[in-house]
Amino acid sequence: MEACDHVFYRNLRKVYPVADRAEGVYIWDTEGHRYIDGSGGACVVSIGHCVPEILEAMETQFKRVPFVHSSHFTNPAACELGTLLHAMAPDKSLNRTYFLSGGSEAVESAVKLVRQYWREAGRPDKYKVISRWSSFHGNTTGALALGGHTARRSHYLPIFQHTPHIEPAYCYRCGFKETPDTCDLQCADELERCIKHEDPESVGAFIAEPVVGATAGAVVPKDGYWQRIRQICDEYEIKLIADEVMTGIGRCGHNFGIEHWGVVPDLIVMAKGLSSGYTPLGAVMVREEIHATIKNGSGVFVHGHTYGQNPLSTAIGAAVLRYIQAHGLVERSHRMGIHLMEKLATLETLEIVGDIRGMGLFAGIELVRDKTSRAWFERDLKVNMQVANEAFKRGLITYPGNGGVDGIHGDHILLAPPFTISAEQIDEMVDILGEAITAVARTL
Ligand SMILES: Cc1ncc(COP(=O)(O)O)c(C=O)c1O
Repeated sequence: MEACDHVFYRNLRKVYPVADRAEGVYIWDTEGHRYIDGSGGACVVSIGHCVPEILEAMETQFKRVPFVHSSHFTNPAACELGTLLHAMAPDKSLNRTYFLSGGSEAVESAVKLVRQYWREAGRPDKYKVISRWSSFHGNTTGALALGGHTARRSHYLPIFQHTPHIEPAYCYRCGFKETPDTCDLQCADELERCIKHEDPESVGAFIAEPVVGATAGAVVPKDGYWQRIRQICDEYEIKLIADEVMTGIGRCGHNFGIEHWGVVPDLIVMAKGLSSGYTPLGAVMVREEIHATIKNGSGVFVHGHTYGQNPLSTAIGAAVLRYIQAHGLVERSHRMGIHLMEKLATLETLEIVGDIRGMGLFAGIELVRDKTSRAWFERDLKVNMQVANEAFKRGLITYPGNGGVDGIHGDHILLAPPFTISAEQIDEMVDILGEAITAVARTL
């Protein structure tokens, strides 16, 4: 490969292996090493790498019309993708989708949509968006402010708009010192308290991930949490935004993660698995009421991005959804997820494995210094990175994260393989992860 001296990398000191080719659940580098894509990149690749049907759809759209700007034209690919998503929606009232280029853009768009909705509904003071600690909603400044990852936020605090945050629904580290047996969903009730403190007439929306991904490692709330959140939002006339950038499009074994609790949000934000990584693509799906209020009001959403609703990306998204349907991959994510959790249970005895959790093919392994006290590792040790590096050396790609405890401490490994992964590949993946954790534990 020619010298690569003009790329600004995320980690400026790291020497990255060079990706050469990929197929199914595997990626090879130019040295010939093979990796199992155990995290689908960053929880992106859902249907596997290099699926020929997607190439065909891409080529067909490319030959027809690769780009038009959304201010000039609509296009059949965007219309088809909108229809496919409507068919997958948790409720038929979620019937309009606004297309973007990724998760952060989609989060920003959802927040702006709610803001504009309340203005046009004659209640312009309902502008605040409440979110949760130990959450992630993207890296653009608006989305990062809503997120609850202290370490990532701290660099940019002076340029954030202040937004209220509440406790997460994190049973392993309950902020209210409850256990699942004694819990009365105080973490959900905290939303009500926060709304009252802020003044209900000033709160427009609540945003949260149905199952927390990057910042805490597949944290599943207790049953009843989401139903209670929905009740509170209804009571105080607050729009519920489900950030399904990681959990959506089959990742948790349902079309959308929140469906597990039978809850219908007012807006759903999605990206990642929507295109399975074949193109940058994000979207916000909204209830007709939001669409109609703006349509019958000013008639224009005061927002837009150059690549929003573009034919090539939406054609790829539509092809990915058709592929997911044709191969029953949402159901497969549920089924293989059960196998993944069973296999992961074999790691429970490892000295530093504190908690194993998840839903569908979305699993988190929390690493602790002491299993009984649940004491965490000092941040400087970067135990999550050490485990991820050991796994990588052994041919497994994982998604390490930190900050679940207090926005800084707490180490976890996230697994989110393609839905096409086989039981044998899951076993191999978990065995490698076990070896990596054991190797790191020996040095601590
Ligand atoms: C829940 C959630 N929301 C939003 C985002 C931001 O998406 P993107 O990186 O595509 O901007 C992410 C990214 O990891 C995410 O996990």
